[in-house]
Amino acid sequence: MSRLVFVLNGPNLNLLGKRQPHIYGHETLADVEAQCRELAEELNLKIRFHQSNREYELIDWIHEAREIAGGIVMNPAAFTHTSVAILDALNTFDHPVIEVHISNVHKREEFRHHSFVSSRADGVIAGFGTQGYLLGLRRLAKLIDEKKA
Ligand code: DQA
Repeated sequence: MSRLVFVLNGPNLNLLGKRQPHIYGHETLADVEAQCRELAEELNLKIRFHQSNREYELIDWIHEAREIAGGIVMNPAAFTHTSVAILDALNTFDHPVIEVHISNVHKREEFRHHSFVSSRADGVIAGFGTQGYLLGLRRLAKLIDEKKA
């Protein structure tokens, strides 16, 4: 299986570090990307790291991943709670998907408790801060290694 992994980020995550830091922390998305790249090297993974505020762009990246990637780590942000289109796109992807949320969505407003993406995800990480992305990458590396064995 391909050791290329897509790390996809949904709307408003470009403002990470500035946006509600009491909820999402002070690290920027560039910090998260740097940490993901460092860990990917250790895990012998290649990563494509993307963020968009546009639903269609996230869907296009999932379609691209479908052709070339062995896994997806995705924080769909608010689209988690609204997007059947992202769920449908992920259902066309044949390899592991890890859903990540920086905050513990279950401790927050009720509308954040439902995720369309969770019915497809192989694992869900919420409330671990930006460390969730790294845990997601570690899990994907393990799943890819197991498939190879
Ligand atoms: C989020 C949680 C979502 O409810 C919210 O809309 C986000 C970020 C998180 O990472 O905690 O934008 O996915």
